[in-house]
Amino acid sequence: MKKILDLIAAEMKSAFAACGYDEAYAKVVLSNRPDLCEYQCNGAMAAAKAYKKKPIDIANEVLEKIGEHEMFSEINAVMPGFINLRLNPQYLADYMNGMQKDEKLGLEEVGHGETIVVDYGGANVAKPLHVGHLRSAVIGESIKRMGNNLGYNMIGDVHLGDWGLQMGLIIEELRDRKPELVYFDESYTGEYPAEAPFTISELEDIYPTASGKSKVDEAFKERAQTATFKLQNGYAPFTAIWKHIMAVSLADLKRNYGNLDVHFELWKGESDAQPYIPGLIQDLQDKGLAYESQGALVVDVTEPTDTKELPPCIVRKSDGAALYATSDLGTIIERERDLKPVKYIYITDKRQELHFKQVFRVAKKAGYVSEDTPMIHIGFGTMNGKDGKPFKTRDGGVMRLETLIADIDEAAYAKIVEAERTSSDEEARETAKVVGLAALKYGDLSNQAAKDYIFDIDRFTSFEGNTGPYILYTIVRIKSIMSKYAALESKYEGAPVILPAATAAEKALMLELAKYNDVMESSFAETAPHKICQYIYDLSNVFNSFYHDTRILAEENREQQAGWIQLITLTKDVLEACIHVLGFEAPDRM
Ligand code: ARG
Repeated sequence: MKKILDLIAAEMKSAFAACGYDEAYAKVVLSNRPDLCEYQCNGAMAAAKAYKKKPIDIANEVLEKIGEHEMFSEINAVMPGFINLRLNPQYLADYMNGMQKDEKLGLEEVGHGETIVVDYGGANVAKPLHVGHLRSAVIGESIKRMGNNLGYNMIGDVHLGDWGLQMGLIIEELRDRKPELVYFDESYTGEYPAEAPFTISELEDIYPTASGKSKVDEAFKERAQTATFKLQNGYAPFTAIWKHIMAVSLADLKRNYGNLDVHFELWKGESDAQPYIPGLIQDLQDKGLAYESQGALVVDVTEPTDTKELPPCIVRKSDGAALYATSDLGTIIERERDLKPVKYIYITDKRQELHFKQVFRVAKKAGYVSEDTPMIHIGFGTMNGKDGKPFKTRDGGVMRLETLIADIDEAAYAKIVEAERTSSDEEARETAKVVGLAALKYGDLSNQAAKDYIFDIDRFTSFEGNTGPYILYTIVRIKSIMSKYAALESKYEGAPVILPAATAAEKALMLELAKYNDVMESSFAETAPHKICQYIYDLSNVFNSFYHDTRILAEENREQQAGWIQLITLTKDVLEACIHVLGFEAPDRM
């Protein structure tokens, strides 16, 4: 369905044009004074300058041209030349019924199956997932779902950190622990075992130990570097260990992301980019873009319009090793070959801003990505504790994602028990998981991504205020009215439709619902999930005041009652479509 603002603007445009004014002036916006009107057109003010007339005269002329119109119940020109509008309740009710009949609730698909790559998650293999990776997963999943909802073919790639020094560290620590393993016997020529020489819990202990050691033990660090180098150059025993690390770690990562309801189309990593790197380096040299600087190979990325010079992008270190930027470029080559995306979206901590700026520029300079393909980096802020410092465990360590989820589920459970609405303890535990995930994701997504935010379990799990649980609570409330209605003995027998709003609260609810397609489209265009959060918070608030005003179940006019049930069902459907895009679902009760 067309957006309601566009429908109004179309009427305004034809009236402007019919009066001899350029229709470009006839923009329509939501009113910022809902007490005076619902929408407004300020075009007469802008046109006044061009046509050397008084704005109010232009506004009045336009009004006259529009005359009586089925779309509006009120249309006024007010000084100095605003045109204030209110929608006809019948027109708005028709729009609501149109939304309800439409499977996509009136959303127009702007995408037509074009591929967009979303690079998010970014976990590092063998290192436990920590809260730093949480934001990327939560934001990325939501952006991906938004794009799918709008008709794009969204490809989420976890882009694992699976090729760095951590691998050498693990190999050497493993050697210290289990020197008898065949991988360390240079004379061994047989097959390598299919079974991993460690479990996930051992692996989780191996990496931090090794990492700690490398900070105090120079010789150990050098061994790890050598092992990494050997691995990267295809030394078979280490490749065999690497495969075990990958398998054990991946199973664990999949489980963790699954618990967050985060799913990837591609489980690729930095290692997959390696085959492209020699060709890439050669190509950058052939094109005259890469040159030697202090032993390293670099590409200049500063452009004439930059106010500050950007450091060149290093594609090969003086010791010959490839870098993070090199593997990102290799990955781009692979993605262009296999996926041909029309857009790239990367989601990481904002401290990686410069890295992505450099990578994007090299990719475009070298012609790997076409000049008009948008490459977007969403750099998010830090998740802080209540003390305003990066979130830590009580003993100051890095908080593991699993612990964090367990904590938030526990807090949600306490709130559910307190509200005493669910029957069994088992059900309360199940519901707590659903509510906990909503609390966690909404707590994150409701902030503008680039901003730091405070992780406040108590606030995030509250059933009141701008929180995930409040939104769920609103949906649950609607579900409960619906099932009570379904159980009524006498109901309207005809085909129920949404009737014109009878009260201001009801109309406010409809006007809010009518924004849905616009909000969904612009939130994706701006890669801004927080706008969807803001929308469903507003929608929940207007719904709750409508509900407070209206005795739906006690209504005696059956047709009216059935119409309200339709309206609240539409409200539920819109809320559920939005939370699905944000990456969580509502329980039946809470
Ligand atoms: N593994 C990286 C990290 O933990 C994030 C990867 C992000 N994606 C990318 N294409 N560089 O910082």
